[in-house]
Amino acid sequence: KKIVVVMGGPSTEAEVSRRSGTAILEALKAKGYNAEGLELNPATFANDIKASGAEFVFNALHGKFGEDGIIQGTLEMMGIPYTGSGVMAAAVTMDKVATKRFFMAEGIPTPKAHTYFRYEFKKRDLTGEILQEFSVPVVVKASSQGSSIGVVIVEKAEELEAALSEAFKYDREVLVEEFIKGRELTVAVWGNEEKQEALPIIEITTVTGRYDYVTKYKVGASTHIIPAPLPEEVTKKVKEIAIRAFAVCGCSGMARVDFMLGEDNQPYVIEVNTIPGMTETSLVPDAGRAAGIEFPELCARILAMAGY
Ligand code: DAL
Ligand code: MG
Repeated sequence: KKIVVVMGGPSTEAEVSRRSGTAILEALKAKGYNAEGLELNPATFANDIKASGAEFVFNALHGKFGEDGIIQGTLEMMGIPYTGSGVMAAAVTMDKVATKRFFMAEGIPTPKAHTYFRYEFKKRDLTGEILQEFSVPVVVKASSQGSSIGVVIVEKAEELEAALSEAFKYDREVLVEEFIKGRELTVAVWGNEEKQEALPIIEITTVTGRYDYVTKYKVGASTHIIPAPLPEEVTKKVKEIAIRAFAVCGCSGMARVDFMLGEDNQPYVIEVNTIPGMTETSLVPDAGRAAGIEFPELCARILAMAGY
């Protein structure tokens, strides 16, 4: 069956997606699959996919149109099976505000947050009310971006206004979130509504102390410690919460659940990524290898979970 790996497109993470997609395409070819790549052009996507003869789509898109349910809905209408989560899980998890509401309703530990719309930012000075509710450092996040784009960790109160202005460049909704001082962890989970399994936990450290766009994608700027050196009961708890977060959001296939671990070892879920990065510096490929699954095999399993 012909597989088309869709990548790129107009999202802020298009370049990351091309790197993920190219790695996936090479891996599938090495495994002997009949696969080719396709750059996403939203206006012509349905025609392009038809012309390609795709019988199966490997979704390697990150961000807008690719990770938010839009492509998933289009492919559903066309009757073409695809990898990863469906429309609802993709739409919810691409939106950090909606995700937060799911977590809160289901008792998944997550940092305290308040959300604001762009119209509110335009109408009044939000900084005073934010500083009444939160103390610095505080995190300001555009709601529907990835790879830390539109995310600012505000260290000083006087930097808050500029951070809001930056985040509102990307989205009409922005989260202001409690900053959790501690360690950065992530867990790849795979499964479906019936059964889920967590891969080894990764702890991330960086050369700058901040896991941002630069340290995420520059070779050597971050280190993945696998398995994360944690007390046994913390490992167990983090994996259990990762699996619950995956299930609550209705994910399927492979997704990655990001955490902050407080200094008291309390885990907080930050977000769920239904199309985690698959670049050479990305996390999930390393989690797979730590579990004895080389990258081509990991890609094959993602296909198999989608019914290929
Ligand atoms: N949004 C990026 C690709 C990630 O989560 O890995
Ligand atoms: Mg993300």
